[in-house]
Amino acid sequence: MTEGTPTGSLRIAVIGTNYLGANTAAGMAEFGFDVIGVEIDEHRLKLLNDGKAPLYEPGLDPLLKKHVDSGRLRFTKDYREVADWADVYFICVGTPQQEGSDAADLGQVNSVVDMLAPLLTRPCLVVGRSTVPVGTSKLVEQRFHSESPAGIGVEIAWQPEFLREAHGVDDTLHPDRLVFGVQSAEAEATLRQVFAIPIAEGCPVVVCNLPTAELVKGGANAFLATKISFINALSEMADATGADVTQLADALGFDKRIGRGMLNAGPGYGGGCLPKDLRAFMARAGELGVEEVITLLREVDDINYRRRARVVDVTHELLGAEWVGRNVTVLGAAFKAGTDDVRDSPALDIAGRIQLHGATVTVYDPEAMDNARRVRPTLRYADSAVEACADAHLILHLTEWPEFRALDPVALKEIVATPVILDARLLLDAASWRAAGWKYRAPGKA
Ligand code: UDX
Repeated sequence: MTEGTPTGSLRIAVIGTNYLGANTAAGMAEFGFDVIGVEIDEHRLKLLNDGKAPLYEPGLDPLLKKHVDSGRLRFTKDYREVADWADVYFICVGTPQQEGSDAADLGQVNSVVDMLAPLLTRPCLVVGRSTVPVGTSKLVEQRFHSESPAGIGVEIAWQPEFLREAHGVDDTLHPDRLVFGVQSAEAEATLRQVFAIPIAEGCPVVVCNLPTAELVKGGANAFLATKISFINALSEMADATGADVTQLADALGFDKRIGRGMLNAGPGYGGGCLPKDLRAFMARAGELGVEEVITLLREVDDINYRRRARVVDVTHELLGAEWVGRNVTVLGAAFKAGTDDVRDSPALDIAGRIQLHGATVTVYDPEAMDNARRVRPTLRYADSAVEACADAHLILHLTEWPEFRALDPVALKEIVATPVILDARLLLDAASWRAAGWKYRAPGKA
C-alpha cells in the first residue's frame, strides 16, 4: 500500500484505552484501519464496546460510536485476540507518578509487556505512545526480544503524543507534528502508512532515534510548564508594581519567538500530565546526573504551587482575615475547562485548603461534579453556579468554563451575603462586575 491510502492493509491494536488509548483507537479507525483496543477494566470495556468514552471528552463519543457501529473498531480484554492479529501494537497505558517519589510508575507498561510478549510469534511493530522516562523504550525492547517467541522480529518504535484534554480528537486526527522514534526504514514506512492522512494534510514529521522521541514529550511538557510558571512569576511582579499581567502576556505574545500560548496567568497548571511529567523529567535528570535541569524545573514547580497558596492568602484577606463562619463559593472543580478531569486540579486543591482553614466551601462545576465528589467528599456541592453562590461571602472563579463568564453580576449580587469575587483565572469582565457593585479582585491585574 502506498502513502496516502491507508485503508485496510494494516491491523492495529491499541493497548490501554483510557484517555490516550480511546482517542488513539478511535483515531486509527477514522484513518481507515481495523482496530482492536485492549482494556482490562470491565466497566471501561463495556462502555467502549457500546461506543462510549470512559471519560468526558468533546467529540470522542460520536467517533467511537461511528466506528464500533461500522465494525472497524472493537475492544477486548483478551490479549490473545490481538496477538498475531495486529501488525502494529500501540502502547497507550498510563504512567502515573510513583507513590512517595517524583519518578514515573512504569507498572502498567511492564504489565503490557508481561501479557503481550509471550504471545507474539510473528514479526510486528510495537509503538510506545505512553509518556516514559528516557531510556524506557530500550528496556521494553530487551524484554520483547527475550520474552517473545518472535524474538528480534518484534521491533520497537516510540511515537509520543501531545494530546490536550478537551481537544483529544482534533489533536489525534490533526496533530501539529508527528515524532517517529524508529530504528529502521521499515518502521518509519509503517508509521508513515499509519499516519498517511495527517501527513498528506501537511503535518510535519520528525524522524529520530528512540531517546530523542522519548525526550521530546518530557521536554515539551517541561517547556509548557515553564511558560506558565514564567507568566505566573510575572503576575507576582505585576501585583508588586501595579502592572497588568494579561496585557503583559499579550505584549510578550506578539513576539513570534515567544508566542501567546500557555501565557495565561492563573492558579497554576494542574491535570494528569504537566505536573507529574515535569516531576518524572526531574527525577530522570537526577538519575542521569544532570543536576542543572532539576534546579530550573524545581523552581517552575515551586512557582506553580505558590500560586495556589497565593489564592488562599488573597481569599483570607478578602474574607476580612476570618475563616470560620464564612461561606466561600468555588466555581470550577476540573483542572481546566472542557474536561471532567480533577487530577491535581488547582480548583479542588484550593477548595480543600480553604475548607481546612474552617470556611464553608460550596463547589460547582458543569462536568466534573462526580469526580470531584469522589476525590473530595467532604466539600459541599451545588447543582448550579447560581445555587452555589447563594449566601456566599466570597466567590472564587477557579476553572475557566464559559458559563462562569456568562453569569450576571447584577442578579448574582441579590443572592450573595457580600458581593466579593476573586477572579483567579483573570477572565471575567472586571468593569461590569465593578459597575454592578462588586468588589472585584484578580491577582496580577491592576
Ligand atoms: C498538556 C499538554 O498541553 C499536552 O501537549 C500533553 O500531551 C499533556 O499535557 P493538558 O494536561 O490537557 O495537556 O492541559 P493544558 O491545556 O496544557 O493545560 C495544563 C494546565 O495548565 C491546566 O491546568 C491549565 O489550566 C493550565 N494553563 C494552561 C494555564 O494555567 N495557563 C495557560 O496559559 C495554559
